[in-house]
Amino acid sequence: MRYALISDIHGNLPSLDAVLAGIDQRDDIDAIYHLGDLVGYGAWPNEVIDRLTQRGIAGVAGNYDSTVAHGYQHCGCRSESARQEELARESFTWTRAAVSESGRRWLGGLPFRIDLKPFGGHVAGPTVTLVHATPNSNLVYVTADRTDDFLLKMAAQAGRSEGDVLCFGHTHVPWSRVVGGVTFVNTGSVGRPKDGDARAGYAVLEMSPGSTPVVTFERVAYDVELAARQVVEAGLPEQFGEFLRRGGRCDSCMDRDARGRRAIQTVFREHRSASLTASKPAIPS
Ligand SMILES: [Fe+2]
Repeated sequence: MRYALISDIHGNLPSLDAVLAGIDQRDDIDAIYHLGDLVGYGAWPNEVIDRLTQRGIAGVAGNYDSTVAHGYQHCGCRSESARQEELARESFTWTRAAVSESGRRWLGGLPFRIDLKPFGGHVAGPTVTLVHATPNSNLVYVTADRTDDFLLKMAAQAGRSEGDVLCFGHTHVPWSRVVGGVTFVNTGSVGRPKDGDARAGYAVLEMSPGSTPVVTFERVAYDVELAARQVVEAGLPEQFGEFLRRGGRCDSCMDRDARGRRAIQTVFREHRSASLTASKPAIPS
């Protein structure tokens, strides 16, 4: 079985369509799953929902999906500066208003996790678990610098063991690692990458009997300018356009005051941060 795993589309329809076209073109993918955060920041939340339902693509709820669906007071996204927080709140307010009632109900019905049995449930084969962030919270960022201990605890929480696979997104930066025989896969982001590459990203997971899982990361060029322009047209902060053009770099997302400028918030810093721990609240107080 070969799975395409798409995550963190964030209302970016051109990027989603480019990824789906790329998947269709390669003709070797058996199933596509999404790992949540379908809406937020981008101008096409309802269209992204429609595309996934039209295509029958199943998946799990991201923090953005469930906070919009349940009318929560915050998107559950972590901000590292006052300006970033201000922009995050603008996005959340816009998205909550833009998502249709039927879309909201559909987002609310997404499962928290999905377990796949690539070789069928009638054999004691490996299990592939899909979550948005971690097996018990969508507010924790599982970055590549997480310790082996942290990952093994995650696997235990999910009930995964040697030979299994645990897949997630949320950080918008792709990576994969094998720890204790468990393959951990961060799929990266379709519609809002944060690794400096503006192209849409997704992961392919190949499961073959008797073989170690094989993970590859794909990038697909799409009309970034169209997505960035539409952000402005839709009335969303123009900074989100800069973010898309620069693969997650956004100088104009910095704080306006001097103290904030010293603490310019590039998202890369977020992902390099070793201080981020599971116990640290993901939402600033
Ligand atoms: Fe996300």
